[in-house]
Amino acid sequence: MADTDAAKEAKRFYDNIPMESPGFFLKGASSLDWGMKNRLARIFNPDTGRTVMFAIDHGYFQGPTTGLERIDLTIVPLMYYADAIMLTRGILRTSVPPTLTKPVVMRCSGGPSILKELSNEELAVDIEDAIRMNVAAITLQVFIGGEFETRSVHNMTRLVDMGLRYGIPTMAVTAVGKDMVRDARYFRLACRICAELGAQFVKTYYIADGFETVTASCPVPIVMAGGKKIPVLDALTMAHRAIQEGASGVDMGRNIFQSEAPTAMIQAVHKVVHEDLKPREANELYETLKNEQKKSEIGSPI
Ligand code: 5RP
Repeated sequence: MADTDAAKEAKRFYDNIPMESPGFFLKGASSLDWGMKNRLARIFNPDTGRTVMFAIDHGYFQGPTTGLERIDLTIVPLMYYADAIMLTRGILRTSVPPTLTKPVVMRCSGGPSILKELSNEELAVDIEDAIRMNVAAITLQVFIGGEFETRSVHNMTRLVDMGLRYGIPTMAVTAVGKDMVRDARYFRLACRICAELGAQFVKTYYIADGFETVTASCPVPIVMAGGKKIPVLDALTMAHRAIQEGASGVDMGRNIFQSEAPTAMIQAVHKVVHEDLKPREANELYETLKNEQKKSEIGSPI
């Protein structure tokens, strides 16, 4: 598409005019019930309207992912810095102390491993069990354009219906297949389908060109997925841009737990999301915290 066409197209999204949400701080949530709003207000900070979710659910299809080998030792301490944690019920019950009061976003889909076709998922948690675990939200992958697209969309609509019954919001994750084009047109399609069919918020990937049209055309909050590990400054820049272009937060995993200094990284991401810290300043903060951490490790008794 020529530049002028792209500019004309972008105009139609009115990305400079935020959608109104009378009576509640989150986009698209005004007409939800009290319990649903209360759960969303535990995940999204009502003062900033944003969230830093910490995603550690990778094991549900790829086993002990690098950095997630020992959740109890290396991951639980990081959870205290997050606004919410996204994980599976197996990890929650085996490895997370019930004294942790962070809101839980429970992974509710599964089936295929990395050895098979990933879009062939089913629902993998009963709503009663989600309630038993006191979750703040339920979540699953939606494979728009994937081989089992209809199945994954149907999984989502069933999860949304179950969530609505008990006041539990559903976060739809727009999963991208290996060979699929990741552009604004695709993510607008995927995010909008999830919102139209009832998801209360959507997790999707950042794209450098046109992300603001993805957030503007999705009538529910979008949180940015982190994706594979990239250099610290690049990850902080991506988070910053996503927020400035309309995301209501991030849900990051590998760029935190595979970082050289995960505690420093999650704190830097927090500043970018909630305080609009610029990427270079956030990177400096990361370096400072990393060095302090190193010094305290050297000084601590063996
Ligand atoms: C899987 C997920 C993961 O939770 C999430 O995307 C992983 O986080 P990251 O990409 O930041 O490591 O939803 O599709």
